[in-house]
Amino acid sequence: MKYGELHEIEITYCDRKGRGCGLVNDRPAGVPFTVPGELVEASFVGRRKGVKKFHLEKVLRPSPERIAPTCPHAGICGGCAWQHIEYEFQLELKRRLVNEALERGGLPERIETVLPSPQTLGYRNRMDFCIGPEGQVGLKEPGRWNSYVDLSACPLLSPAAADILGEFKDWMRTNDITPWNVFRHDGYVRYLVVREGKNTGRRMITVVTADAPLPGRDDLIRRLKPFAASIYHGINPTVTDLSYAQRLELLSGEELLLERVGGRDYLIPPNSFFQTDTVMAERLLETVRGHVAASGAETLLDLYCGVGFFAVGLADLVRQAHGVELDAEAIAAARRNAELNGLENLTFTDAKAESLVWDTERPDLVIVDPPRSGLHPKVIETLLERRPRTIVYVSCNYDSFVREWLRFGTEYRLADLRALDLFPNSPHVELVAKLTAKTD
Ligand SMILES: C[S@@+](CC[C@H](N)C(=O)[O-])C[C@H]1O[C@@H](n2cnc3c(N)ncnc32)[C@H](O)[C@@H]1O
Repeated sequence: MKYGELHEIEITYCDRKGRGCGLVNDRPAGVPFTVPGELVEASFVGRRKGVKKFHLEKVLRPSPERIAPTCPHAGICGGCAWQHIEYEFQLELKRRLVNEALERGGLPERIETVLPSPQTLGYRNRMDFCIGPEGQVGLKEPGRWNSYVDLSACPLLSPAAADILGEFKDWMRTNDITPWNVFRHDGYVRYLVVREGKNTGRRMITVVTADAPLPGRDDLIRRLKPFAASIYHGINPTVTDLSYAQRLELLSGEELLLERVGGRDYLIPPNSFFQTDTVMAERLLETVRGHVAASGAETLLDLYCGVGFFAVGLADLVRQAHGVELDAEAIAAARRNAELNGLENLTFTDAKAESLVWDTERPDLVIVDPPRSGLHPKVIETLLERRPRTIVYVSCNYDSFVREWLRFGTEYRLADLRALDLFPNSPHVELVAKLTAKTD
């Protein structure tokens, strides 16, 4: 098939990346920004992992679920794969994706619904804007690491995003700042990370650059200060295309970002993870609280605990809780968060979950909330060997969860499975599974 070749495609399903898919010459074909039920005209742009990739040219027969997106960049920007899809139908597509994964893994369970988010825009408390070689400041096109969309606003974050992006671009122009070039691995400014405390009105902005002093430093601070309680300069000296800063200098304001969820205060360091949808993080915490309360657990182990989101939010339900996390800054913040919330029954260890040496006592309940790659095999092994009565598995990747269930299923029953929409306008979905040991 030639590059640019036009095809009419009947879109019949969405894949896990959120692309509408159909068949071309009996082979799967993915077309971003389409909706199941549509007939579209699309041009061939390449092939990856057995899927032909197409670019949407024209919607020939629109789905009744297609809506006009709010954002002027929707349909190009990879930040929102589904802003053109009516929200109820997004939930239905997520339900299907989860159930298809459960079926593939041989699990008999199915989810009936996905708990909706009360807001589909403005819900994100973090956005990592990347800088393109031509000075674009924004996000990437879907599935393309080297194609940048210059954004004037980002309705997923907050209305202030437009002003922040504008000031940042003006700072780059005024001070002749060279953008990072991802092809040549040279240039200077790499990422603009904006984080918001949705319930505290605080904002933290980190400008991530290559390893060199910051030009126009006072100008940057003057421009961003009206929007941010904290401004950081972060350095990523590697060629890896990440917003993670190996070194950080606080340019102005507070060291940590303060957020409040479910009546608890959380301090968050610039590089550390926090749930990106504050409103739905509270629903997530409530869901897990329900499981912990019903289990009657007295001792709790929170693996992959970040800044102590679950341990702090559950401390009143148990006698003792311990959190484990590899990010040392997050653990330092978790200890401060315990103190900030007046909690004396929490301890934390900075370590990899897989290298944790468990003492002889087994915790009554273990929460695992791993990154998208899932649990390390050694963590699964230890859990199966120690057999806590209850495991609450919080997963942002249903494929990892289903894959790992093959191991857990020998010793555990899937007592409860729920899906929550922590990521409106994207195909992602959060699962909370309650696993109970078979012999108990
Ligand atoms: C999905 S986040 C969950 C964090 C926390 N439970 C929360 O809700 O805020 C996953 C966390 O796992 C941490 N992490 C990644 N690999 C790890 C490992 N091997 N051992 C321990 N923690 C790890 C990350 O730094 C991140 O904080």
